[in-house]
Amino acid sequence: MLLRSRIISTGSYLPEKVLSNSEMEKMLDTSDEWITERTGIKERRIADNTQAASDLAFEASKIALERAGLGPEDIDLIIVATITGDMPFPSTACFLQDKLGATNAAGFDINAACSGFLYSLYIADSFIKSGMHRRILVAGTEALSKITDWDDRTTCVLFGDGAGAVIVEPSNDDSGILSIHINSDGKMWDLIHVPGGGSRNPASQSSIEQRLHYIKMKGNETFKVAVRTLEDIALKTLQENNIDPSGLSLLIPHQANLRIIQATADRLKVPMDKVIINLDKYGNTSAASIPIALDEALQSGRIKEGDYILLEAFGGGLTWASALIKW
Ligand code: COA
Repeated sequence: MLLRSRIISTGSYLPEKVLSNSEMEKMLDTSDEWITERTGIKERRIADNTQAASDLAFEASKIALERAGLGPEDIDLIIVATITGDMPFPSTACFLQDKLGATNAAGFDINAACSGFLYSLYIADSFIKSGMHRRILVAGTEALSKITDWDDRTTCVLFGDGAGAVIVEPSNDDSGILSIHINSDGKMWDLIHVPGGGSRNPASQSSIEQRLHYIKMKGNETFKVAVRTLEDIALKTLQENNIDPSGLSLLIPHQANLRIIQATADRLKVPMDKVIINLDKYGNTSAASIPIALDEALQSGRIKEGDYILLEAFGGGLTWASALIKW
């Protein structure tokens, strides 16, 4: 039998501070009604001044390790998906390794924006299958509030902070990750990006005055491409495994916008009671959104042994990805 990898435990962490739509009404020209109707978001969490991406990932990873009954020294690789790393370098995975005391692990980061967790899981799955690693910690963590332009109502209502983590090991039966599919299209890089702070537009007084260090997004175009690509990749993943959408127990989509999630579920003919939604509480937490949603689904008993679960994500790059898991 072909070796598979499987997720043996999960953990998540959300910062304590809650920022509701009604509080945002006091900050800028928006309304709870507009945000709720267009996005489904009611509130989001905001990291405090002392919390960077590795701090959030640390809290989520501790829980995942504890639930697996493992110590940090049992991990042999750490992959962190993030676009809001503590610093341009070193990697956030190195900060996380140090915080955990995971002295036997190597670590690196993956930047695939909101698809980052599934890209990282793809790598973890390949490394486990090849026998290169035996126990991998994959974390998705974002402090998006730190790169959000709080004067731009078209973007700032969408994002939030948080982290999720999973531990991946070889599977000893037919459960586990059945397949993961990843895609990119760099031609559409400008739909969602942060123009400043890299080698294209290094940080300078002028880059800061032009607010280049904040997220820029063409919301409408992004919306349309998201719905199309998510349907395509979800169907491809299901077809590859000869599973009909009706055979899915659960769909765990990236939590960007309720209307995108509904449109994708509609196209796949998956009823909404089989779809995990938590964006009302957390907004779009980019690479953290799927591991947080997966953790909440598991903890609330919505996942049973033998269930087929489809994960799907879409984000800056552009990138998109999906994974089919037999739990
Ligand atoms: N509050 C109130 N009004 C707002 C607003 C806000 N926060 N943000 C924008 N508006 C206004 C616009 O200025 C515009 O006004 P106008 O018609 O007078 O020009 C109007 O609302 C409609 O804007 P539009 O951008 O066309 O709205 P939309 O229906 O496309 O919704 C998004 C905007 C951002 C919610 C939606 O495009 C979206 O979710 N896109 C996908 C984004 C995404 O998921 N990105 C991450 C991918 S991982």
